[in-house]
Amino acid sequence: MKCELFLLPAELPDFHAKGRRVVLVDVLRACTSLSVALAAGAARIIPAESVEEAKQLLRALDREYALLAGEMDGRKLPGFDLGNSPAEFREPTLAGKTIVFTSTNGARLMTRMVDASEQVLLSFVNLAAVGDYLLACGDSDLTLVCAGQEGRFSLEDAVCAGMLCDWLRRREPTARFNDSASAAMVLYSAHEHDLPGLLQICEHGAFLRENGMGDDLVAAARLNTVPLVPVVREGRITAALPPFAPAPPGE
Ligand code: MLT
Repeated sequence: MKCELFLLPAELPDFHAKGRRVVLVDVLRACTSLSVALAAGAARIIPAESVEEAKQLLRALDREYALLAGEMDGRKLPGFDLGNSPAEFREPTLAGKTIVFTSTNGARLMTRMVDASEQVLLSFVNLAAVGDYLLACGDSDLTLVCAGQEGRFSLEDAVCAGMLCDWLRRREPTARFNDSASAAMVLYSAHEHDLPGLLQICEHGAFLRENGMGDDLVAAARLNTVPLVPVVREGRITAALPPFAPAPPGE
């Protein structure tokens, strides 16, 4: 297996995602919150590139079964049912609902990579489930991309990507990694014993804490507590649940 990590969305060459399975990493908070939403029974999530697009997508849905969620610049938006705090997505009222979701980095990147065969959403809460899923898929080449923060590097996404690479390396000792993946594994080794502390010191974590969203950091640090894999296929996010059957030969 060859793992290629892109630490910033801008590093991803045009059309690189086309036809591939891509792992998208956004710990704070999109990938964490969407995993929690699917675990709470949400039927599907539709990522939207902007607030306007989200509102437009919602208009086409039966409002009784649809919710509008997300943030811009970290804050819940006027007229939205939910923001982007994991706790908001834990509600039983989400069961069976379609959620239209927009966010500053994560959702935008999802809509940019629509030509991928599949996007797999990674955060600390579902890391082992994603690892198991990827091994079951059996791809020889794996692309990972960090959502970052408005085009800039995010420490928490790099550490999470490094943790997944380390997890894969332990199971596939012959796996090869590009330099960004190797660097991310070094970052992970510096933080592996204190993920809650990492989320306190990283820039976006500090922003969320200073704006009254410190509980979201605690939720995002709960390693392997959501054993499902959100996958984006044809513009819709649904859950792949373990156990994952090995991919048939030739797929
Ligand atoms: C994003 O997608 O940009 C994030 O999830 C930002 C956030 O809500 O903290």
